[in-house]
Amino acid sequence: MENMEMHSGITPPKGIWWKPAPAQERRWVIISFIWCLILFAMMPLWHFKGGQNPAGVRTKVTPADFEARVDKFIKDYQIGEDQGIPVVQPPAGSDVYIAGRMWEWSPVLKLKKGVEYTIHLSSLDVNHGFSLYPARLNFQVVPGYDYGLKMVPDQMGIFNIICNEFCGINHHNMVGKIIVEE
Ligand code: CUA
Repeated sequence: MENMEMHSGITPPKGIWWKPAPAQERRWVIISFIWCLILFAMMPLWHFKGGQNPAGVRTKVTPADFEARVDKFIKDYQIGEDQGIPVVQPPAGSDVYIAGRMWEWSPVLKLKKGVEYTIHLSSLDVNHGFSLYPARLNFQVVPGYDYGLKMVPDQMGIFNIICNEFCGINHHNMVGKIIVEE
């Protein structure tokens, strides 16, 4: 018993008990470190060069203020109703508004083909995903921001807006509509 050496996590063994990393391992550490720096540099670089930032304007807005803009827009240009959602036909080339809320997109828009609109998107409650089918256009709709996206509808038809961000029990029923006419 008296010869037994006692070790614990806080009393390290004596002497050099480790070996320096071999050259090959050191090379890999250096390569990994350089790669980390490249990826780090990519973040700001991608912001400027990646072409992935939302086009158009983005401003802050409270959900209540955005709702007031949407209400005024509906009041000014409403032409009908589709399953309880107002249908709005704004002047060609104007600023148009769509609000996302649990669990509807409102209003339904009636737009003219080949004319540029600024589509203002925002959410009145939680995050929603604006996904335009079949145009394969995706946009994250976050409360507190008014995203003004410039769009030129280049096809006629009825396009569904599908929510692609899980937003609660009725997420799968959150479908809106944009109608594009000649
Ligand atoms: Cu809105 Cu899912």
